[in-house]
Amino acid sequence: MGCAMNRIRQWKKLLLPYEQAVEELKVKFKAIRKEYRDMSEYSPIEFVTGRVKKISSIIEKSHRNGINEERIEEEMEDIAGIRIMCQFQDDIYSVVKIIRERDGRDLQIVYEKDYIHNKKDSGYKSYHMIIKYPVQTAYGEREILAEIQIRTLAMNFWATIEHSLNYKYKEKMPENIKLRLRASAEAAARLDDEMCEIRNEIIKAQLLFEEKSNIIRDIVDSIRMLQSTGKQDVAMAFQDDFDEIVNSNDQEALERLLNRIKDELPTYQLFSNDSNK
Ligand code: GTP
Ligand code: MG
Repeated sequence: MGCAMNRIRQWKKLLLPYEQAVEELKVKFKAIRKEYRDMSEYSPIEFVTGRVKKISSIIEKSHRNGINEERIEEEMEDIAGIRIMCQFQDDIYSVVKIIRERDGRDLQIVYEKDYIHNKKDSGYKSYHMIIKYPVQTAYGEREILAEIQIRTLAMNFWATIEHSLNYKYKEKMPENIKLRLRASAEAAARLDDEMCEIRNEIIKAQLLFEEKSNIIRDIVDSIRMLQSTGKQDVAMAFQDDFDEIVNSNDQEALERLLNRIKDELPTYQLFSNDSNK
């Protein structure tokens, strides 16, 4: 029993830096999305997920691929996995570019696999990047391997369904289901193509929405700032104006209001009126 306990501790110690890496990478890629959104700019990243491979899957894969247990960390590239979902196929290459620009900085690219231009027989499409990522642990710096999969929402939908069927049938997936999956992979690819055709229209609509919510955010923040600088009356008047137009579709009116509020703000900054009190 002491031995079994030791094994569990060993696994835990092995997996800790991978958990750290997945958390850090998720934060970093989510931050990119947030930065674009906050600036009312288009984000090539739609959402990000991550996971550490389960111990049972690591053992199963090491047996399947003939990986010696001592060599798991060097040879298993997907113990840490990050998935970046994009709205459009072109966005995938924007994300690849963003990651390449970080090569040699906070991460190191080991190699890349383009299963978009070279889709797999199953119909699988995605862009994979294998990276080395340094993690600071209680036991010093550990450099781990991680797999980043970049794909569209449609590719992700297909891969998720196919994965669960694969899991159900293991190696013995019936031929007719394989065919259907290949056909649905093509349908997903057509969806991506169609979306790409109306990409600019979609992006314009989304940016408009994002811009409006950012203006509203700025108005609310500015009114609060006015209040906290003691200008209750002005703030209330602006609040009334705001309540009147917030539900209209008049973005220009919102912008005008924001500019009027901003004009009121600078005179109250940095306690410049303290001497008058
Ligand atoms: P494993 O497939 O994990 O043994 O690694 P590999 O060395 O063969 O690399 P590959 O690039 O083929 O696969 C890496 C990962 O991509 C897999 O773990 C899956 O997450 C994903 N993947 C690859 N092929 C398929 C596929 O046909 N269907 C689905 N759903 N996912 C796939
Ligand atoms: Mg494979």
